[in-house]
Amino acid sequence: MKRDHDKEFGSLLIKFSNLIGLSALTTMLLLLLVVIFRLTPAHTYLPDLNQVFQNSASNEVTEPIADGEMWKAPDLASLPATPEGDLIRYGHELVKNTAQHLGPEGSVLHISNGMNCQNCHLDAGTKPFGNNYALVASTYPKVRARSGMEEDVTKRVEDCFERSLNGTAPAKDSKEMQALAAYIQWIGKDVKRGDKVKGSGLLNIELLERAASPELGKAVYIQKCQVCHGEEGEGMKPAGSAVYVYPPLWGENSYNDGAGLYRISNFAKYVKANMPLGATYDNPQLTDEEAWDVAAYVNSLPRPKKDIRKDWPDISKKPFDHPFGPYTDGFSEERHKYGPYQKIKEER
Ligand code: HEC
Ligand code: HEC
Repeated sequence: MKRDHDKEFGSLLIKFSNLIGLSALTTMLLLLLVVIFRLTPAHTYLPDLNQVFQNSASNEVTEPIADGEMWKAPDLASLPATPEGDLIRYGHELVKNTAQHLGPEGSVLHISNGMNCQNCHLDAGTKPFGNNYALVASTYPKVRARSGMEEDVTKRVEDCFERSLNGTAPAKDSKEMQALAAYIQWIGKDVKRGDKVKGSGLLNIELLERAASPELGKAVYIQKCQVCHGEEGEGMKPAGSAVYVYPPLWGENSYNDGAGLYRISNFAKYVKANMPLGATYDNPQLTDEEAWDVAAYVNSLPRPKKDIRKDWPDISKKPFDHPFGPYTDGFSEERHKYGPYQKIKEER
């Protein structure tokens, strides 16, 4: 009797240890999966990550997207094998792999901070609401209030080199600048001046009723961004490499305080439709509030400074969220930077 009982207990023990073995195996497999996903190169979008970051996501898009077809960039494969085709292809390469050619250890010049144009102009400036170049060909040259001057495409590209890449631009007549301008204009070649283009630039999101909060944003950052962009916003590059896998968000290698993303509204619009990596305008991973708050957090941290005293020669044209005075209204720099913005906008 006691024997049987022992036997039974023994086989139960074996079953149990089998079970443990099995779950240990499952755990190891899961771990392996996690490692594989973390090491997959930056430019493949990973829908599976969406699941990981989905806990407080909302799928509603603030501004319903009007009917009509989403803009699509022309196909690179359609480019002819001519010198012009080659120039455009080189421009594409420079947008994608800017650091490799023009970064701190670039093969052509050392004139920028290690970021790629594509870090902010996703899929080489072709992604819907990924800060794409759809409208550039049809809207430039144009007068821009920031400089108070008429700007052509090369001037606009210079701006991103000096601000977003915290560096200097290649000379206007260099092959690199010519290639960038040719590529960017080729992207928008089928758009006519005045066309309404669905998916161009950045996704509009509604203003918050309250000020955007760096404190709330910090929690969003830790939960949804830090895994790639790092605890100190320093980004991630493999040891010995001068090229980022995950670009920095603040600190000495990030965009400077004269850059477009330093405006909290631009940052919020960019992340709403594009971050965490894998998010799209029709499958966003952040609520509007999370987008505003994480924008406030990231832009409250230290970064390189740019001398922007010559910007906005007509100060009444400063955007509502331009964080540096003087202003024509009575609101503080702090209020302009973080909001709430409604009253500022009403007074215009
Ligand atoms: C840190 C992010 C960032 C990086 C890196 C960056 N840009 Fe930009 N760029 C922006 C933002 C944001 C805007 C829109 C700014 C605004 O509307 O105020 C913009 C606007 C532009 C525009 C004008 C688009 C339009 O429709 O008017 C061009 C052209 C451009 N960038 C080219 C480049 C090129 C070329 C590079 C690389 C040399 C580059 N950018 C790197 C953030 C970036
Ligand atoms: C799975 C990794 C991953 C996560 C998580 C992630 N990002 Fe990114 N992020 C990237 C990569 C990769 C790029 C560059 C995309 C490219 O070059 O195609 C990028 C680019 C950016 C950029 C523009 C470039 C720059 O460095 O300024 C911003 C801003 C940004 N992410 C903000 C965020 C925020 C905010 C979150 C959290 C809500 C977030 N990201 C979560 C991988 C990630």
